[in-house]
Amino acid sequence: SIELSLRPSSLAQYIGQQKAKENLSIFIEAARLRNEALDHVLLYGPPGLGKTTMASIIANEMGVSFRTTSGPAIERAGDLAAILSSLETGDVLFIDEIHRLPRSVEEILYPAMEDFCLDIVIGSGPSARSVRLDLPPFTLIGATTRAGLLTAPLRDRFGVLSRLEYYTTDDLCQIVERTATIFEVTITKEASIEIARRSRGTPRIANRLLKRVRDISQVRGEDKISLETTRKALEMLQVDQSGLDHIDHKVLEAIMDAYQGGPVGLDTLASTIGEESQTIEDVYEPFLLQQGFIQRTPRGRMVTPKAYQHFNREVPNT
Ligand code: ADE
Repeated sequence: SIELSLRPSSLAQYIGQQKAKENLSIFIEAARLRNEALDHVLLYGPPGLGKTTMASIIANEMGVSFRTTSGPAIERAGDLAAILSSLETGDVLFIDEIHRLPRSVEEILYPAMEDFCLDIVIGSGPSARSVRLDLPPFTLIGATTRAGLLTAPLRDRFGVLSRLEYYTTDDLCQIVERTATIFEVTITKEASIEIARRSRGTPRIANRLLKRVRDISQVRGEDKISLETTRKALEMLQVDQSGLDHIDHKVLEAIMDAYQGGPVGLDTLASTIGEESQTIEDVYEPFLLQQGFIQRTPRGRMVTPKAYQHFNREVPNT
């Protein structure tokens, strides 16, 4: 599918995340030289930065199969045991949202990661017994929004911790141009910079915005996506000059208007604007923090002077 073709399939095609790529390429090369499975990798960072893509690239670069599942999809220990016992030597098992694995499942993962074995209990009551199955050496790649969401014993079993960062405008611009080529559309340099600047440092958002801009450009009969059309499209999509969307606005305006700039607790804020606390914490807050629109204090979230200035408001005296 076109969606899948947007994903780079090698480290060489992957734009941005210089540090993560540099480190991973060395660990991959070393594991290959030793003819071993790559050590377990934890990828963490905000959504949409390419954790799944990076995991599939690691499998490609190692020349092994890529198996994928997610924390919430594995309900019982037996579900994970079935997946683990079907792995072949060196395979990559990717577990997205790994912090959401049930505790009982997590416990069978420890010996699997550490000693490549599976302890399973057969039967119950006095006749129950434990059998130990050997597994082939494999690589677990876990993905999560924050490393701190994992229990310490699980986190400690990853040999490689790799944090994905928000992309620079330059990197996003290259991604937009690459995607435009795959879509077989032409876009002016100024238009791709505009999309890049307003994509919250996130390739998934940049590619989504490009699709909508392309729609409008096509309906307008353009042969090349222009800056003017791009601006018009972003206005229609309620994406502002800094890339903030309708929900970012609700978050900032609620803190300014209902809580005099804060501090306000996450759950209180979430119910004020009718969003999930988890969504605010994982999706909206990291970017607003990184951009300096809000700050976290022990008593909750506060807006900064930059937030008032963004809305052309006077900064209140404190
Ligand atoms: N498409 C989405 N993310 C990408 C990335 N990091 N590099 C290249 N193409 C991408």
